[in-house]
Amino acid sequence: MQEKIIKNSKKINLETGKDYYWCACGLSKNGIFCDGSHKSTNFQPMKFTVAENKAYFLCSCKKTNNRPFCDGSHSKS
Ligand code: FES
Repeated sequence: MQEKIIKNSKKINLETGKDYYWCACGLSKNGIFCDGSHKSTNFQPMKFTVAENKAYFLCSCKKTNNRPFCDGSHSKS
């Protein structure tokens, strides 16, 4: 199994009425959305939707306590 790639958050415009799949394993190429790279791990993507059409900060460090959104954990030691 590969190690998680630790990255900071990303601001991404999301839309209501769409299903999104947040990468929980840290192996996806963009670090945010599942691209199927988790197949060799025990991780599964997290399906989520949003309540408003707007930009959201999504977690890519995988340390957040508010999945899939950034809570600033990437900047804490
Ligand atoms: S690629 Fe990470 S959960 Fe699917």
